[in-house]
Amino acid sequence: MLKFRSGLDVLESKNYLYIQSFGCQMNLHDGRRMVEVLGSHGYQVTDQPEKASVILLNTCSIREKTQAKILSALGRYAGLKRKKPDLLLGVAGCVAQQEGAKLFAAAPFLDLVFGPDHIVELPRLIQEAQKAKKVQIGFVDANEYSFLRAIPRPGQEDPTALITIQKGCDNHCSYCIVPLVRGPTISRSADDIISEVRDLVDAGVKEVTLIGQNVNAYRGYQETGEDFIFLLRQLNQVAGLERIRFTTSHPKDFSDDLCLCFKELDHLCPWLHLPVQSGSSEILRRMKRGYSREDYLKIITRARQVCPDISIGTDFIVGFPGESVDHFQETMSLLEEIQFDYAYSFKYSMRPGTPAEQLEDDVPETEKSRRLHHLQSVQNKITQFRLSAMVGRTVPVLVEGPSRKGLPQVCGRTPGNHIVNFDIHRPEVPTGDVVQVSISEAGSHSLKGKIFQEGMEGT
Ligand code: SAH
Ligand code: SF4
Ligand code: F3S
Repeated sequence: MLKFRSGLDVLESKNYLYIQSFGCQMNLHDGRRMVEVLGSHGYQVTDQPEKASVILLNTCSIREKTQAKILSALGRYAGLKRKKPDLLLGVAGCVAQQEGAKLFAAAPFLDLVFGPDHIVELPRLIQEAQKAKKVQIGFVDANEYSFLRAIPRPGQEDPTALITIQKGCDNHCSYCIVPLVRGPTISRSADDIISEVRDLVDAGVKEVTLIGQNVNAYRGYQETGEDFIFLLRQLNQVAGLERIRFTTSHPKDFSDDLCLCFKELDHLCPWLHLPVQSGSSEILRRMKRGYSREDYLKIITRARQVCPDISIGTDFIVGFPGESVDHFQETMSLLEEIQFDYAYSFKYSMRPGTPAEQLEDDVPETEKSRRLHHLQSVQNKITQFRLSAMVGRTVPVLVEGPSRKGLPQVCGRTPGNHIVNFDIHRPEVPTGDVVQVSISEAGSHSLKGKIFQEGMEGT
């Protein structure tokens, strides 16, 4: 009776999926959606590529190195494909969107290349690639785009969840490939977001992080004036939701009213990831960031005024075209002045098709490395100092589960997003509970503590 079986039924026989995701939280989130979509068609995730019938690389093209890493990972799977010709190899995500069918020339053993807009069609695309070989698909029309919800699992282990509130980016910072690989901004309606959050809360989620490339530019239904502050206020009222975070926000769209939310909204965590990129107004202008050093400093001063406990992180790019030693010094002085809790920093990497491609990449590689190393060593000391200042304090920690070291040690996060490891003294892990932890030690990127009072778990 095989002829009466739909193609999707064929997929429902035992199949293993091996998936590797790279890049930002949006992409990690997309990777999880791929697992869910294929899971509902009978696929089971494996951590052994040799066992898989489908291998997907969910890729990032933000810097040349990230892209190169992916192509070399792909090379590793070519050997597997030779041994097992039925193996289906696919590339998803931003490299897939950027390179499209060109990837087949670079990797002739590849079967499927699909951009971030097509996750929902994955079972069909796999099937087509199995039949026809070599399937490639890029953006969908903005009007046809629909956001894919997370599938909440009752009693799910992880009390935290990411929620996509927008996709794409309209900013066109001169160095950045994201607008080219993710398209223009499309915001999701507030109703849809809130209903997804409610479903997740019903399944046991206590903390949500709203994600997008520029979340504070969020605009839902124009008719009802849904902007980012509107969305935060609505979410703050969702019963059972204890913590709200967001990332990434953009300084150019960061209003005073948004700063005030850190004071007004009791569930909004005192944590702000606000990429600055450079401390030089001249370099910021060339990066087309839309704010100056002074504008940025004003936001930070205001945020700390309304919420003295706020923990602040940032991103830096060193060695942007034309960045002189003096410009770099301005970045260092900003970093020292602000005393960020943490910072991610990168060497400028020219991306094809971006406006900065027209600028001469004139800071030598060795000088980029020197600047990066210097910035990171100063920031590491500041991070260490800021973490040490937590020692002796008692803080509410949302328990996420056993730590990397394993039980009896568990890990969780403070409202300021610091990771805290501590021992529990009873067999059940209080995952999803907020417990009081007294901080006893600061590591280089995390904290250690003692549960404040035995028996208080779950209170
Ligand atoms: N939407 C976010 C950032 C997304 S990309 C924002 O606007 O801040 C994450 C980080 O990668 C950026 O903040 C930037 O620091 C870095 N990045 C982006 N493009 C880069 C490039 N071409 N070279 C080096 N770093 C880059
Ligand atoms: Fe890239 Fe700028 Fe958009 Fe961030 S805001 S994703 S850096 S273009
Ligand atoms: Fe990378 Fe694409 Fe995210 S380029 S940073 S995975 S949007």
